[in-house]
Order: sequence, then C-alpha cells, then structure tokens
Amino acid sequence: MTTETQVLNSNSCLISPAIPENALQKYSPLKLGILASGNGSNFEAIAEAINNQKLNAQIQVMIYNNPGAKVISRAEKWSVPSVLLNHREYKNREEFDSQIVKTLQEYDVEWVIMAGWMRIVTKVLIDAFPNQVINIHPSLLPSFKGIKAVEQALQAGVKITGCTVHLVDVEVDNGPILMQAAVPILPDDTPETLHERIQVQEHQIIVGAIALAASKNETLSSS
Ligand code: GRF
Repeated sequence: MTTETQVLNSNSCLISPAIPENALQKYSPLKLGILASGNGSNFEAIAEAINNQKLNAQIQVMIYNNPGAKVISRAEKWSVPSVLLNHREYKNREEFDSQIVKTLQEYDVEWVIMAGWMRIVTKVLIDAFPNQVINIHPSLLPSFKGIKAVEQALQAGVKITGCTVHLVDVEVDNGPILMQAAVPILPDDTPETLHERIQVQEHQIIVGAIALAASKNETLSSS
C-alpha cells in the first residue's frame, strides 16, 4: 500500500501513517529491549509479530520493575530473558536509569521499547539510545498526557481518542510521533471497555511504529 493512511475495516479505526509492509525484510533483525511494568500485552503483541514474521526483530531482554508483574510469565512463554530492576531500590531516577542502560547494553540492545513502562525516564536513558527509545501511550497525543489518559478522555467528553507511539524525549509523553490510531468513544464506555478497544489498536501500531522508526533510520544511514 502506498497511501499514507489506512482504515481498519474490522473495527473502523484509522491508523496513520499506514503500517509499512515487509519494510524490514532486507535488514538484519532489530535488537529490541522491552521495558514493562505490568500486564505486558504490548510485549506479547511484539513477540507474536516477530513469531509471525511481521517484524524482523529479536527481543534481547525484557526489563520489569514490579515483582510479580504479569509480563514475567509472558516473557517465559516466549523464552525471552527477563530482568527485575526495582526502582524502589535506587536513590533517584538517574541511578535507576543508569542500571537500565547497563543492562540493555549487556544484552546488546539497539532499540528500547517502553511498552507499559510506568516510570518517568531521564536523559541518562534517552542519551544512551539517541532517537531509539519508543513509547506507547493510550491517547491521541498531545491530548491527555500522563496517567489515567483513558479516564481523562472520558471526562473531557471527546468523541474520538486513541493511542500514540512516539520517540521519547525528556518531557513526559512527548517527542516525535511515529504512528497513531483513532478509536471512537461509545456512549456507554467505561474506562475499562474503552481501554480494551484502545489496546487492540495499540497492538497494531506498536509493531508498525517499530518497523517504521527502524526503516526511517536505515534510510537515513544508507543515504
Ligand atoms: C498501555 O495502555 C500503554 O499505552 C500504556 O500502558 C498500557 C500497558 O499495557 N503506556 P500492557 O501492559 O502492554 O498490556
């Protein structure tokens, strides 16, 4: 597909730009490090896309900060090494991020994916992986930054919300947008029902945006 946008007919959600098809086939596998705090459905979407050869990548490591998080069993299922780095054991955010960087480097990570990482990151992490830290957020940024983005959208009374994948900078939920999906809000939506529909879209665009970001970098470095 050559158009810049694409409608997903199955649930009438618009994704823009279009998810690149086979964009990475000629390149060597991307080495991903995933940061996750809880459920890990985005982690799983990435693992499945790799397994289905929709994304030419390998998950080198999954770092989590909450002991007992559901994402641990997902990593086990996909035989991805997981490392617990508990932020509660570090003096400040910078020290915590230094340990994250060290771990990512030990596992030879190139791209850092914050897939439900409920921590504010610092320059320490961002500078170690310039333009290669990616975040997913459950709103159409720049609307509804921060926590409880789904609740914020419901309270604001907007009729369309969605999700965004973007490159990370030091400001929370900020940085160049890679891909977005729009999700209509239904009259009887609760935070749970709406978040569930947003997550269906998240699982598409997280994969698409990784491919897009990597193919952009390849284009730049080969030109
Ligand atoms: C997602 O809604 C993501 O946008 C937000 O945290 C949630 C993580 O979901 N940053 P999961 O853990 O990947 O299921």
